[in-house]
Amino acid sequence: MNPCDVELLELSKKSLDVKNPIFGEVGTWCGRSALMMGKWLLRRDGDFYAIDHFRGSMNDPKDQKTANRIMVRDIYFRNISLMPNIHTLAMTSIDAARIFKDEMFDLFFIDGDHRYAAVQADIEMWLPKVKKGGIFCGHDCKCHADKVDPKILRIEDISQYRKSGVFPGVVRAVCERFDKEQLHINRGIWWIQK
Ligand SMILES: C[S@@+](CC[C@H](N)C(=O)[O-])C[C@H]1O[C@@H](n2cnc3c(N)ncnc32)[C@H](O)[C@@H]1O
Repeated sequence: MNPCDVELLELSKKSLDVKNPIFGEVGTWCGRSALMMGKWLLRRDGDFYAIDHFRGSMNDPKDQKTANRIMVRDIYFRNISLMPNIHTLAMTSIDAARIFKDEMFDLFFIDGDHRYAAVQADIEMWLPKVKKGGIFCGHDCKCHADKVDPKILRIEDISQYRKSGVFPGVVRAVCERFDKEQLHINRGIWWIQK
């Protein structure tokens, strides 16, 4: 288990007292995070909604080629085939957000398009879908924005993201949206309790 997985499991435990918890995520890829949280939920009669268009990151041609070559979608469906509580919405984040009613999720995880405007949009679309007291969280946030060179924070080119080791779009969008007191960043995961 990597550090992000550990953090996600810790966050899942905040729903221990919830009967039939409901979790969701945008950005599923081959299903790693979905499987991990799905297994945790299966033991608690909970459900997991996985949303992905399975086209890879739209600003990363390398990622899109990979998505085609290894047929991510097929691998994903094979990986989750024994998980009756994982429900897949093979569509864009924006289309999926229209389907769910507000205050439905006990935990929602953002790990889709990592560009600044896309992360901003995902936050605004999915935050209302989380119950009061529920966990709203996401991946690839290394640190608070004030620890990053402002020039790096504005980088949108994904090849430079890798070089800098941070996902500037994620860090910037998340840190602009939430107060420092409310926002937790641990092991690459950002989260707030609503
Ligand atoms: C970083 S990967 C997700 C990794 C995954 N959570 C895991 O544990 O391995 C990002 C995923 O987001 C998906 N994605 C990107 N933009 C999206 C969008 N607008 N709507 C739905 N899925 C999107 C991509 O297809 C890709 O599979």
